[in-house]
Parts: sequence; structure tokens; C-alpha cells
Amino acid sequence: MQRSDYTKGELMEGDVLRDPFLMFREWLGTARDENVVEPEAFCLSTATADGRPSARMLLLRGVDHGLLFYTNYLSRKGRELTENPFAAMTFWWGDLERQVRIEGEVHQVTAEESDAYFASRPASSRQASAASPQSQVVSGRDELEERVAAEGTDRPDHWGGYRLVPTAFEFWQGRPSRLHDRFRFTKVENGWLIERLAP
Ligand SMILES: Cc1cc2nc3c(=O)[nH]c(=O)nc-3n(C[C@H](O)[C@H](O)[C@H](O)COP(=O)(O)O)c2cc1C
Repeated sequence: MQRSDYTKGELMEGDVLRDPFLMFREWLGTARDENVVEPEAFCLSTATADGRPSARMLLLRGVDHGLLFYTNYLSRKGRELTENPFAAMTFWWGDLERQVRIEGEVHQVTAEESDAYFASRPASSRQASAASPQSQVVSGRDELEERVAAEGTDRPDHWGGYRLVPTAFEFWQGRPSRLHDRFRFTKVENGWLIERLAP
């Protein structure tokens, strides 16, 4: 069993910005600058109305007052978000020994925002995502390839974006001997409550 000690950085009270979005942008920028593999990749956790969770990797496609990602609204995650809009995102930037956790409510973006993002994608990706009945059982690869060949490049109504509007963030920096640094931001009426958590 591998046991690595985390020694790449620290996160002290003086390093924590007051605005978690600025802090998130700064850490994402560092992950990009340091050539972390797929810095935009995160794990999205959703749950059914009766609380059964599921999780999968996605790519972050924007940050404004929320975090944006794109997918098929009829997929498993899409169906779970329809019945329960609360979700969690987890980023792991291993080379930096950093984790970020974000929780909040998820809303579909406007059709205009989805159109703009869809139009920015290569035609082959547009065709594939329009044709793929994401999360459904298919008979084989042939079926998928036939569906793609028959598909145009317009955005179908069931494919588009979501925005997770955070109510909590946690920034985690690995430290030696498992004494990691953790800061949680919780949305309160006039801003964000910032607290250090035990590792
Ligand atoms: C690194 C990575 C990035 C991914 N990005 C996306 C994405 O942005 N949108 C998407 O729909 N699926 C993406 N996928 C595929 C999802 O993990 C998943 O297989 C798919 O969305 C179906 O999930 P569901 O059945 O839980 O809805 C990605 C997979 C990986 C490994």
C-alpha cells in the first residue's frame, strides 16, 4: 500500500480569500498553469428523491455566480437532478495535493446559453451528444454509430447546461502526516461564513 505524505503547500488563515469564487478561480488557474491533467474535471454527485446517491466525472465549462456543466437532461444524472436538484462537485488536483468540494442547488441554464455552448463545440461532438441516448442500454456500438450518422448538428432540447449555485465550498490542502488544512465557506445572509475544519 502506498502512503504518500503531502508536502506541496499549506493553507493558512492569511491565504484564504473572503470570496470563495475568487479563491476557486485562483486554485483552478493554478491547476491550469501547473498543467494538472484535465484541471476542469470534477466528480458530480447527485441523488434520487429518496436519497440514493450516484456520482460521475464531468467537465466544468464556466464559472459565474455558479458553476456550469453540460450534459444530457434525460441521462441518469439529469433525471436525478429533476427529482432532487441538490448536488455536490468534487475537484482533485493531485499534483497540487488540493481538493475542492462545492455543494448547492442545480438549475438548467437558458436555452440561449446552451445554444451558444453547443455551437462552440466541434461538429463531431455535437452529432455524438445529440445522437447518444445517454445512460440508456444500447444493442451495440453499431447502433450508436448508426444513430450518429443519421444525426444533424442542431442542439436537441434534451441536451444543455446546468448551473450549480453554491451554498458551501471547502478548500483542502494536503499537509504532512495527515494534518491537512481545510476551510469551509457557508453561505449566510450577508456573505460567507469561513471556518477551519479538522482534517
Ligand atoms: C474526465 C471526464 C469528463 C467527462 N465530462 C462529461 C461532461 O462534461 N458531460 C457529460 O455528459 N459526460 C461527461 N463524461 C461522462 C460521464 O462521466 C458519464 O459517463 C455520463 O455523463 C453519463 O452519466 P450518468 O449516466 O450518470 O448520467 C465525462 C467523463 C470523464 C471521465
